[in-house]
Amino acid sequence: MNTSLDSALAEAEARYTADNPKSGARHAFARTTMPGGNTRTVLHYTPFPLAWAKGDGVTLIDLDGHAYTDFLGEYSAGLYGHSNSVIRQAIRDALEGGIVLGGPNQYEADLAQAIRDRFPSIQLLRFCNSGTEANIFAIQTARAVTGKSAVLTFQGGYHGGVLYFRAGGMPLNLPIPWLTATYNDAEGAAAMIRAHAADLAAVIVEPMLGGGGCLPADRDFLFALRQACSEHNVVLIFDEVMTSRLSTGGYQAMVGVTPDMTTLGKYLGGGLSFGAFGGRMDLMTRFDPDRADSFPHAGTFNNNVLSMAAGLAGLRKLLTAQAIGLLNRKGDRLRNAVNEIAKRHDVGLKATGVGSFVGLHFTRNDVHQPGDLDPAEAERRTKLQNLMHLDLIAAGKYMARRGFIALMLPTTEEEVDAFAGAVEEFVVSRRSLLE
Ligand SMILES: Cc1ncc(COP(=O)(O)O)c(C=O)c1O
Repeated sequence: MNTSLDSALAEAEARYTADNPKSGARHAFARTTMPGGNTRTVLHYTPFPLAWAKGDGVTLIDLDGHAYTDFLGEYSAGLYGHSNSVIRQAIRDALEGGIVLGGPNQYEADLAQAIRDRFPSIQLLRFCNSGTEANIFAIQTARAVTGKSAVLTFQGGYHGGVLYFRAGGMPLNLPIPWLTATYNDAEGAAAMIRAHAADLAAVIVEPMLGGGGCLPADRDFLFALRQACSEHNVVLIFDEVMTSRLSTGGYQAMVGVTPDMTTLGKYLGGGLSFGAFGGRMDLMTRFDPDRADSFPHAGTFNNNVLSMAAGLAGLRKLLTAQAIGLLNRKGDRLRNAVNEIAKRHDVGLKATGVGSFVGLHFTRNDVHQPGDLDPAEAERRTKLQNLMHLDLIAAGKYMARRGFIALMLPTTEEEVDAFAGAVEEFVVSRRSLLE
């Protein structure tokens, strides 16, 4: 039994390095051509990430041949699992018709209609290639239409690599006059909207802070944003890149708050690259190329046949209200199990989230916004996250290092219970470090 967190972590990393020589070698090779061996920051963790050889259902196999149950679900884009037969068939069928056709194809308008049918606030939409792009276009649309320049975001918000509002700032954020308010503080945000109304083009908000720790928005908070934006000609953008999968109408349907624009991504391409932005008719109609004053919106792969076909098959054939309900209940089961374990063993561990999203935090506080996590404890929390991540990997469970979990449709209750069992094992074996 380790008595110090640092030595426990060093020991866990040494065990991991010894267990995963092929992933280690792959990382060393990748370092010769990519900074840190990495081309997507969120996939990096110490001492090096596992490199995947294969995925099947909810199982991942690494280069060294170990099998893991996948609880990361490709940060929510892997909703359908790694080998869904309906998605695979749709991709095969689309492939038969040619890959890059350079014109409208037989899928995109159907997918647009399937999305609009689910999200009535999206009267018209446009496709793009990622959630980041969708957010950039939504923000720029709001700025161009209103003629105002500033955009209100929230601490801990993540809308893409150039739209990231973590504490300490982000050097690569787009040069837009940003204002940052506190998440889930309805009065504070409404006051900020009123105070800056003359120059405020948009408010962009995740209905659940995803990268910020799976912290869902209160209905009152979103409702206050809605009211203040309506009063001051400010475009309210819901970034539902993650949360749209929580019901057939996204988080907006769950809380009954209608944004002016919505951005989408992740699973809606069936597991292939995808983004979309849409909303009110008067805003989106500005993209109509027949208009003399139309906004240009380019993107070689906006309507790529594989994403369109896979996304359409997913919505038409797989993502029913019933499937979503079942999946969300598995998320509830996992969240409740972890919180019950923490209570039973009297340790500072909290499971947050909503439906099929779960965030794990080493704290005794209730967490409604990132500021509820004591900054003085940040280093200790990070070390505990690292240790739990490595211990769960050793137990065959894969999630994000920061404790982010996005369940996949094929995840079973037994797998959820096994994950909770592995968390309990961690809590028991590392008890003294969790004080
Ligand atoms: C809420 C949210 N918005 C936007 C993005 C960016 O999407 P993409 O990675 O497709 O650019 C993400 C990705 O994690 C996200 O979680």
